[in-house]
Amino acid sequence: MKIGIIGGSGLYEIDGLEFIEEIKLDNRFGSPSDSYKVFDYKDCKFYFLNRHGKNHKILPHNVNYRANIYGFYELGVKHIFSFTAVGGINKLLKPADIVIPDNAIDMTYSRNSTFYDELEEKYHIDFTNPFCTNLRNILIKSCMAQNLRFFDVGTYICTNGPRLETAAEIKFYKQIDADIVGMTLFPEAPLARELEICYANMSIVTNYAAGISKTKLTVDEVIDTMKKNNENIKKVIQKIPDF
Ligand code: HPA
Repeated sequence: MKIGIIGGSGLYEIDGLEFIEEIKLDNRFGSPSDSYKVFDYKDCKFYFLNRHGKNHKILPHNVNYRANIYGFYELGVKHIFSFTAVGGINKLLKPADIVIPDNAIDMTYSRNSTFYDELEEKYHIDFTNPFCTNLRNILIKSCMAQNLRFFDVGTYICTNGPRLETAAEIKFYKQIDADIVGMTLFPEAPLARELEICYANMSIVTNYAAGISKTKLTVDEVIDTMKKNNENIKKVIQKIPDF
């Protein structure tokens, strides 16, 4: 079984994972954010891709999502778990919480968000449920097995960035029932669906969304919380092959 993991830096040194190779591959949609690092673990082959590239240089609106997902497709990966940092909108959420979203809202613009411009077929994918139920269940079981505090539903709203939101925007997103806000789920998730790759997401709350916290959000705060949570992400990944 080939499993794709999209995440950030520091996710590679996981106990028990045996490094096999690093695959650098461009494709018809351009260059993926980084090379794909391949690891063997418990009958699975893991393909890791760092969404923001080396040293976190690629901002959310500049990620070549099509090249990243097409790369997985060419490698024969049919299952992708993505990990993202988000701000918490729902008042139950606090920094370091884990959310496995079950739905999503796209507020991005000017991103290359489909393969169908380039490929022959013109096609409208069904996206009623943007995440694969089987993969979501694996994430849920993995979190449970590792005794992590997590929320098994939630709506992820994806903003274009790179600026953070205004307080009024967050108030509006709250009114339309968004629970978490990030910048990278779209078009990553629908592109995977277009290529019939199963996709699920685990989000880490790195901060209170704009206007909820009294303090000003800094990028260091987001990266710091994400780094601290890498241990939890690793624990979840280690359990994936068991389910
Ligand atoms: N807003 C958008 N994206 C984010 C945030 C946020 O508050 N935190 C982490 N990624």
